Amino acid sequence: MKRRNFLIAGALGSLGVAFLGSDNLYSYDNFKEERDFAVPLIYEGEIIAGKRVFNLKLQKGEMEFFKGLKTPTIGINTPFLGPTLRAKKGEFIKVNIKNDLGYDSTIHWHGFELPAKMDGGPHQVIKNNTTWTPEFTIKNRASMLWYHSHLLHQTGEQVYKGLAGLFIIDDDESSSLNLPNEYGVDDIPIVLQDRNFNTDGSFRYVSSLSERMTGIHGNYVLVNGVIAPTFKAKKRLTRFRILNGSNARTYLLGFSDKREFALIGSDGGLLEKPVNLNQIPLSPAQRIEILVDLGDAKDVILKSYKGASQNMGMMGMMMSQMNYDKEFDLIKIKSNNAKNSNLKIPSIFIKHPIWNPNEAVGVRDMLLQMRMGMGMMSGGDPYNNFFINGASMDMNRIDAVAKKNTFEIWKIINRSPMAHPFHIHNTQFKILAINQRKPYPSEQGFKDTVMVDPMGVTYIMVPFRYYSDNKVPYMFHCHILEHEDGGMMGQFLVT
Ligand code: C2O
Ligand code: CU
Ligand code: CU
Repeated sequence: MKRRNFLIAGALGSLGVAFLGSDNLYSYDNFKEERDFAVPLIYEGEIIAGKRVFNLKLQKGEMEFFKGLKTPTIGINTPFLGPTLRAKKGEFIKVNIKNDLGYDSTIHWHGFELPAKMDGGPHQVIKNNTTWTPEFTIKNRASMLWYHSHLLHQTGEQVYKGLAGLFIIDDDESSSLNLPNEYGVDDIPIVLQDRNFNTDGSFRYVSSLSERMTGIHGNYVLVNGVIAPTFKAKKRLTRFRILNGSNARTYLLGFSDKREFALIGSDGGLLEKPVNLNQIPLSPAQRIEILVDLGDAKDVILKSYKGASQNMGMMGMMMSQMNYDKEFDLIKIKSNNAKNSNLKIPSIFIKHPIWNPNEAVGVRDMLLQMRMGMGMMSGGDPYNNFFINGASMDMNRIDAVAKKNTFEIWKIINRSPMAHPFHIHNTQFKILAINQRKPYPSEQGFKDTVMVDPMGVTYIMVPFRYYSDNKVPYMFHCHILEHEDGGMMGQFLVT
């Protein structure tokens, strides 16, 4: 193994602690022994009295990401991350979530349209040694959503250590399309998470002001909890459902031979028709579904290309100097044993409803800002450095009130030198415009998280359907978890 351990004085701030470093994230040249690709367990719960019931336990664990080194982790039913939950649109689900962590946490249902009380945000704390039991009807269309900790000020650290998992929703429409859908066989979930480690194997979370500012970027990428895995394709046409579960890093995904793939889905489910691409950016919290033809029996690597923070202006330059914007390998794919599956990519999937912007009841501004300059984030309150409409997150303040059964246009204005992946709870929206342009076909799907460029403006059309609650709010926030924890979050009611 060529992996090098050395001491790095952290970018901008000095750390004084040793951690496992690599000057080039990793490339397969650095890993001689082959590591198997891991597929998260699938957990479909059981039907009890007409409800689909899941039992989850938040617990401490340990992983061996590096041979011979133990990493203390947290997970859901497993040592690190959680099982992939699966249910069908229209089903009523009930989830018993027992917290055995030794400290408080929450579990938020990211991407779901659901009652505010069941949302699992900062207001639905699960105290240590207690059980929280959210239940709700699955309203979302077929899609891959996810769940993760959302504890006030501690989301970043809890997700970093492992509190996240996938949730696959099926519906009749998508099942009738003959898409690859055999979990772990030709329908492959992928969670990408970059991480830093101390030399004793433990995770190294934020340890400098610059990491607080840009969000933490790791030297290693865990793919479903494995560094540099090799995936042995079983089927010629394979569907990958990819979640960027990283705290802050945006990837620019593509294959090493630049082969085309078909983008078939985004955060909230299938697109209307496939879009052929050879690269696609994926910001924190976003999901894509792609179909790849692995029929040529050649080895290929799924990589992240340089350029993910290309249009990030000054901060992008700084981030690339800090080794945040690099080309690196994610998964080696071997397809010499891939079998023909007789499936091909359908040319049309489904029709999306047409949303006319004129139907919106109004335009709501969301102004994103962060504290900059000398003394940036030093001293002072670490939870008060990032702002939406001039204020950082306050559990006691409602920032917006929307009416159930209406559409709003949200104009998200970024007055900072960094891109922010903006996320809204309880909705799947559509992008109307990014800066001055119309969304590309690849951006026209249902979304719950959208990138807003540095000094850019993104317009989205946001539906509020199904649920209202006069007291319990939902969140909107930047999904760079260090920004969310640092204050870039607000609360809205749907009444
Ligand atoms: Cu993925 Cu408010 O969260
Ligand atoms: Cu969410
Ligand atoms: Cu941000």
